[in-house]
Amino acid sequence: MTIQQPFLTDVEELRSRARASIEKGAVTSDYQGDVKQAIEILQTVLATEIVCVLRYTMNAVAAVGIASESVKKEFDEHAREEQDHMRAVAERINQLGGTPNFSPEGLATRSASQYAVGGNLVEMIKENLIAERIACEHYRELIRFFSDKDPTTRVMMESILAKEEEHANDMHDLLVAREGRPML
Ligand SMILES: [Fe+2]
Ligand SMILES: [Fe+2]
Repeated sequence: MTIQQPFLTDVEELRSRARASIEKGAVTSDYQGDVKQAIEILQTVLATEIVCVLRYTMNAVAAVGIASESVKKEFDEHAREEQDHMRAVAERINQLGGTPNFSPEGLATRSASQYAVGGNLVEMIKENLIAERIACEHYRELIRFFSDKDPTTRVMMESILAKEEEHANDMHDLLVAREGRPML
């Protein structure tokens, strides 16, 4: 019950944030303008991935309980994959002529997903599922935005999206295994 509201709120916030970047200035044939906008959007994506690395790493360390070894392993694997995403996005920003923003200052504000601290194992899994679903929404929207304007960035985002969908599915499976019923 409590899980539905924050999820909806986050998605609305995420959408308006993504839209604010997308609608900034008319899209013109001016290449420079597009590049600047692309970098701005990618900085948000980078922050989102950094927060995901931090959250999964914290979860992998903090997960306790007799049945949590397999879950810890899953959290660890996700932390590594989020790190790959973080790196790929940072490289793309660099390729476009920007400086990837790794500053801890304002990180949570730049990120589309939250650094939520789940208390017990099930809460951690739920928070990760929420974060993954937000990431999927975010990537789908940005893939549509980049479409054929920047195919390189789009293709990178498509491959990250496929991974995020896997992550969401993994978290959902863990939840079903623990709660005995589908959450969604
Ligand atoms: Fe990711
Ligand atoms: Fe993920």
